[in-house]
Amino acid sequence: MLVAACIIALLHGVAEEAGIDFTPQEKRRILQHSPIPPVPDDPTNDWDKNPGAALLGQALFFDTGFSRNGAVSCSTCHQPPRAFTDGRSIAKGLAPGTRHTPGLLNVAHQRWFFWDGRADTLWSQALHPIEHPSEFGSSRVDFVRRIHSDDGYRAAYTDLFGVLPPMEDVERFPPGSHGTSDAWKAMDQADREAVNRAMTNLAKAVAAYESRLRGGNAPFDLFVEGLRNSDPAGMAALSPSAQRGLKLFVGKAGCRQCHSGPLFTDFEFHNIGLPAHHMVDGQPLRDPGRFDGIPLVQKSALSAHGSFSDDPVGDKARRTRSTKRGQEHWGAFKTPTLRNITSTAPYMHQGHFNTLMDVLLYYNTLEDMELQDHHQEAVLKPLNLDEAELADLLAFLHSLESPLPEESLLQAPSRPHQVQEHPHPDSNEGVEQ
Ligand code: HEC
Ligand code: HEC
Repeated sequence: MLVAACIIALLHGVAEEAGIDFTPQEKRRILQHSPIPPVPDDPTNDWDKNPGAALLGQALFFDTGFSRNGAVSCSTCHQPPRAFTDGRSIAKGLAPGTRHTPGLLNVAHQRWFFWDGRADTLWSQALHPIEHPSEFGSSRVDFVRRIHSDDGYRAAYTDLFGVLPPMEDVERFPPGSHGTSDAWKAMDQADREAVNRAMTNLAKAVAAYESRLRGGNAPFDLFVEGLRNSDPAGMAALSPSAQRGLKLFVGKAGCRQCHSGPLFTDFEFHNIGLPAHHMVDGQPLRDPGRFDGIPLVQKSALSAHGSFSDDPVGDKARRTRSTKRGQEHWGAFKTPTLRNITSTAPYMHQGHFNTLMDVLLYYNTLEDMELQDHHQEAVLKPLNLDEAELADLLAFLHSLESPLPEESLLQAPSRPHQVQEHPHPDSNEGVEQ
């Protein structure tokens, strides 16, 4: 009996070894997922690689003083230790929002921003939280005024971008004037231009900081390096289970159709049939996703094709203009990156699932999938994987955990904006995290 058991165990071991051989086609596919290339230039942002702008942007990112209650910063929701997410199903700033907070590692590689892609550049994305009632709940005039009235920020701004508008003039620049308020509409055209210019410059500084948020090598990247060089030591970075999961990922589980390339996303939008999960006033929130995102980005004057872009007729602008909205965009959301996915629970645009296994079980059964009309993507079929296969796929997903960027990028900079020596009175009042 014992001998038989040993032989079976031995055979199993051999089979396991053999099972982790990759076919040439699998190998080709796997190599496409690593390494992450350098951050592409953003021609719409002349400051995207400017270190001074990145430092100013970093100070802004961690500063709670721009929110109406003095307690919310970008980092309230995009927390560095959680790969720049917040651990909540649905984000909460001044008030609860309607969507889940995505992570920001490697974000400068994205083509569209937000789950619905309603921003087409990293800097234009950064404008949204300022006036969003459930994020900072502030206004563009108050935002620029705070830069103007702070010696440190004003000096840093002036060094980079030139003079600020004369924000001390509260008659020309009435407090609380957000972009849709009557006070804003009553302002001089030239003054509105000047505030928008300053605000977009500051957003470009924030984008310069965000573009530095690159993850390091994950175990998966070490494995691919090993596979590329036929080096067993490198390949040992993935357990046999994770390697079997990888085989499923690029093979019969079909994940790479959408989670493709080094960031495990095609940067496009798909409807995977998730039913509404978040309740608002007792009703499930039906979110049109990309269907609403397309007209929003096309109409926005603060997009790649607008006059505040540094490349208003380039590729990005052209892509935004030429996107055609169709019925298939209803309920479609951006394919999220799977890098650092272990740190970014809950999952999906409304935080539908608390664990990665719950996500896999959804793909496995497509239980509760909400079918639309005939425009529904036909890509997804229930996978019907067995328990061992699901465990393998999970082990593979865990191998995409990269180290965070260097420590100095994960907190308010120690030399935020050169001149200022005293901290802001409200800079320590983080909301509960
Ligand atoms: C109240 C929480 C909250 C705050 C504050 C906040 N964000 Fe976000 N962020 C979110 C949520 C939620 C989304 C997705 C919203 C959507 O898709 O509609 C998001 C999306 C993003 C994205 C798009 C990522 C992608 O892959 O599409 C970026 C970049 C980003 N935020 C940066 C920032 C910056 C910079 C700030 C500060 C100026 C900020 N956020 C403030 C919650 C927040
Ligand atoms: C048809 C394209 C498509 C296929 C195929 C696909 N995904 Fe996705 N995936 C998406 C989209 C789109 C979302 C976001 C959906 C949403 O929030 O509405 C998503 C979300 C996820 C998430 C949650 C990420 C997060 O940050 O919230 C994980 C994990 C995931 N997919 C893993 C997989 C795995 C594993 C497979 C293969 C079994 C797979 N996906 C197959 C398009 C796809």
